[in-house]
Amino acid sequence: MFRVPRGTRDFLPEQAERFRSLENLAADLARRYGYGELRTPIFEYTELFERGVGESTDIVEKEMYTFTDRGERSLTLRPEGTAPVVRAFVEHKLYTGPMPAKYYYFGPMFRYEKPQAGRFRQLWQFGVELFGAPGPRADVEVIALGWHYFRELGVESRLVLNSIGCVQCRIGYKEALVSFLTGRDMCRDCCSRLERNPLRVLDCKNDGCRAALESAPVITDYLCPPCREHFDQVKAGLAGLNIPFTVDPLLVRGLDYYNRTTFEYKTDALGSQDALGGGGRYDGLVELLGGPGTPAVGLALGIDRIEMLNPPALDTGGGRRGVWLVTMEPAAAEAIALAHELRRKGVPVQYDLLARGVKAQFKQADRHRCRWALVIGPDELESGRAVLRDMESGDQQQLNLATVADELAALEGVK
Ligand code: HAM
Repeated sequence: MFRVPRGTRDFLPEQAERFRSLENLAADLARRYGYGELRTPIFEYTELFERGVGESTDIVEKEMYTFTDRGERSLTLRPEGTAPVVRAFVEHKLYTGPMPAKYYYFGPMFRYEKPQAGRFRQLWQFGVELFGAPGPRADVEVIALGWHYFRELGVESRLVLNSIGCVQCRIGYKEALVSFLTGRDMCRDCCSRLERNPLRVLDCKNDGCRAALESAPVITDYLCPPCREHFDQVKAGLAGLNIPFTVDPLLVRGLDYYNRTTFEYKTDALGSQDALGGGGRYDGLVELLGGPGTPAVGLALGIDRIEMLNPPALDTGGGRRGVWLVTMEPAAAEAIALAHELRRKGVPVQYDLLARGVKAQFKQADRHRCRWALVIGPDELESGRAVLRDMESGDQQQLNLATVADELAALEGVK
């Protein structure tokens, strides 16, 4: 027997509908904030991620689905959406258009991580990327959009904020951090990180490393005046929108492209997989990937984790929907014609395809959770009137067949 590959999932209709609602809400919200959809391929040339995400990140070192195609090119299933959007921004010279340029995406990403609750190998993200605005208002808008999404869904999340400064600030900070941590008891990964990418040590979950970090120097003490000013204005902008946040100087995030603002939305409800989303500013990435120097800021939200929190806004109450047409010979063909007219008007309609009797059809109407059952047999066609049964209350009413399509459309609220 075949099973889905480890870390991936099938979405059966009920859950697929929840994902569709999450996508619809994301698209609607992005539109309200002035973002246009940008769809990029599921795979890209491997080098894009090596350069864009960073050679010494966990994603590039351990988590990419990389393969060689029949033309001997190295391709990688996208582990994230920012590098592909930047690639498209540069490739299509979108920087020649009006600024800021704002894009959103919703789709699957792939990371070879150890699967556990809330961690998948095919994961879904809703992301936005904003180009061409260097000032703190852009950071605030992006952070507010994510916050707004959680609010509309009724999901609790905590916003955690940091600034990792610019290259200049980090030179001084890295020196201080390395000299503080050298000789301390840390995991093997962190010993090598200390040489190659010391900020990644701040991210380590190992108890020994966390203990070593307790009195370590913090990046926010090393910000240069312009970076400090930017950070202060981001905080003031969020406060002005009544968006609560805490500052965590250990928040560095696992991707190399960030500078200045980084942030995460966290939950207490999912154990160790506590990040519902995150993002930050990445002013150097467009240039790194071959475009003109263009400031940028963005975020991505983890849709799998958000769905696991059972957002109240997705709660459909398991209500009944649509109409079951109970048909009988010799009137079935006419009843079916009516079913198609109803569907064209937007009413969800089902009918028997297995030559079942009337009683069995009512049972099917119930099992398929239809709201109404409408009986159309030869007598109904002759009298021009049909009985509509409310499958919830059992109440019955007579409908005029000449106007039944409009009446049902009105009852279903599609008009
Ligand atoms: P990220 O923090 O790597 O950022 O991923 C964003 C979110 O995707 C995470 O907070 C988490 O909710 C979800 N996620 C990541 N990995 C998994 C997984 N294995 N299973 C389930 N959910 C997962 C980025 O990807 C950046 N591109 C965000 C960004 C956009 N920065 C600037 N623009």
